[in-house]
Amino acid sequence: MRGRILLLGGLLLTALSIWHRPLPVATSKRQTPTGAFSTLSLIAACAAIVLAAVLWLATQQWREASEREVAARAMTGGDPTRAATLMTRYGCAGCHAIPGIPGADGQVGSPLTEMRKRVFIAGVLPNTASNLIDWIVQPEARDPHSAMPITGITRAEARDVAAWLYSR
Ligand code: HEC
Repeated sequence: MRGRILLLGGLLLTALSIWHRPLPVATSKRQTPTGAFSTLSLIAACAAIVLAAVLWLATQQWREASEREVAARAMTGGDPTRAATLMTRYGCAGCHAIPGIPGADGQVGSPLTEMRKRVFIAGVLPNTASNLIDWIVQPEARDPHSAMPITGITRAEARDVAAWLYSR
């Protein structure tokens, strides 16, 4: 997204700089540079509209992401900014693919994406914040058949991880 904004910004600036370049002096009274001028104006106007649309979309996405984070913090009492280190330290990343966490490409459990939209956790628990935190701390207490082990993560740390998972 940031790349696209920069690209469009560059396009706009290029169009504007061409637009402002001194135009070749007309040799006779009939030759006027109006055609070139209006084409460039059109390109610049289009670029400006596209840029405005992209900026608006980026702002919307940023606002939605921050609203999700506020809700996730309130639901779990955790701090999502601490979660990335925890998920690497406790081996979550070795068993789960977790988009947004570098190197988290495990295939033992399911990918941890859009947890806020799930109806169940691991197919056995209704998806509530306290169930998710319980699951992260002690999966076997909730499902004795689960292959997910107790990792040693504390309840406070599990809150941080749950906050992160719900903010995605
Ligand atoms: C040894 C592999 C392993 C490790 C380590 C592991 N998990 Fe799991 N996890 C599983 C398996 C297997 C399941 C059950 C199948 C499933 O639902 O993905 C599971 C299920 C889950 C679920 C429910 C997913 C869903 O789709 O409903 C969550 C959430 C979860 N794990 C989070 C974590 C977190 C957070 C950590 C680190 C603290 C962690 N896991 C560590 C293997 C692991």
